[in-house]
Amino acid sequence: AARKPLIAGNWKMFGRSADLGEIAALAETIGPASGVVDVLICPTATYIAAAAEQVRGKTILIGAQDCSAIADDSARTGEISAAMLADAGARCIIVGHSERRTLHGETSDLVRRKAEAALAAGVTPIICVGETQAEREAGRVAEIVGLQVRESVPEQGANIVVAYEPVWAIGGTRTPTLPEIAEVHTLIRRVLAERFGDQANAIRILYGGSVGPKNAAEIFSVEGVDGALVGRASLKAADFAAIILAH
Ligand code: G3H
Repeated sequence: AARKPLIAGNWKMFGRSADLGEIAALAETIGPASGVVDVLICPTATYIAAAAEQVRGKTILIGAQDCSAIADDSARTGEISAAMLADAGARCIIVGHSERRTLHGETSDLVRRKAEAALAAGVTPIICVGETQAEREAGRVAEIVGLQVRESVPEQGANIVVAYEPVWAIGGTRTPTLPEIAEVHTLIRRVLAERFGDQANAIRILYGGSVGPKNAAEIFSVEGVDGALVGRASLKAADFAAIILAH
């Protein structure tokens, strides 16, 4: 299946106003490459509108890092709905990032409801899954990741992206081996096919966790890897451009 690669940058709680200029610099550097891959940058919600302004007329997409699981306008002080993020210019929303699951106690059930809220707002959810170091050492990768996919992916609608991010590979220097990445991506697509049949072939599965300019090309060469979810290396235009151009 021909899936257009997606290279997504997750700025986490790092990127500030002063960093928004990196988006214009990125557009300048990648030029026509942005036609063959989808490029997405997810700043903190307060910067989405300004970031969307930066990419006006360019092919770079802007997204969000999280959304409320509640789809309707309602009394939820402090929450931001998927529809509001869409109003601000978000085209994708990351849901279930391991930092949300671990540090904010999000369950797969909540993640699925967030993904459903994104779909209802016409925004593509990027649903994150991945095992911890202890789970990998215990030989439970297939069990854990399989369960997270089954529970976090909405029953309806194959218009999603899945990101495989081994928790132990995030924010460090270690990544799984290329065969290990291939194995998990194959597993995820098989689980998606159980639910969506042939439609699963259109779903992009990204790898995330310590992707940088040095290892991007080899990771992109792995069968079944349709792009990357990049943290630290997405903040500087030069690094992120090098990753995009490695595809
Ligand atoms: O969402 C991005 C991931 O958590 C990866 O972060 O590239 O800094 O390891 P990292």
